[in-house]
Amino acid sequence: MEKPVLRRSFLRVGASGATALVWSHAFGATPECDETEDNIEGPFYSPGAPEREALWEPGIKGTPLVVTGRVLNTRCQALPYAILDVWQCDADGVYDNKGYTLRGKIQADKNGRYQIRTIQPPPYKVSETSSRPAHLHLKVSAPGLPGTPVLTTQLYFEGDKFNKVDRAWRKSLTINPQEGAKGARMASFDFRLRAAG
Ligand SMILES: [Fe+2]
Repeated sequence: MEKPVLRRSFLRVGASGATALVWSHAFGATPECDETEDNIEGPFYSPGAPEREALWEPGIKGTPLVVTGRVLNTRCQALPYAILDVWQCDADGVYDNKGYTLRGKIQADKNGRYQIRTIQPPPYKVSETSSRPAHLHLKVSAPGLPGTPVLTTQLYFEGDKFNKVDRAWRKSLTINPQEGAKGARMASFDFRLRAAG
């Protein structure tokens, strides 16, 4: 049985995260998942990308990258059939601003599980003197829960030399892909939305 009033009053007096967790478990409260940080949209979003199984397609250049995880609300409950509208540059650091190469809407399953199959994006130059670290752009939404704000964010990559000099980079949005089967890089990340309802 959830005890939201007790839990809130306890948190207000400044409990540490660890203590709050013990308290919430002791009283059977629903655990909370921190909301995923938002991040700049950038200049290259194209609305209307098609629904796709994968951004990767035959003949595309680059190291395969697979990102998997779940879309949850801030009480750690799955958001069924959430949509991840993903866009990124190609292996040369260029966005397709005319079509939808490396752009698409990926749908999570009924348990909020998603899989993005794509390529590893490289860092790209934004001027003669600065570059952005490698990243994926995403808009994550829950069409089944009207009123839920769309989360616009990015995923970055551990070890990128431009992370520390990029104003938009966030540690909490940084994934660390590992070598997977057939040379693909594999990573996981859960998105947590402040969902309505
Ligand atoms: Fe970008």
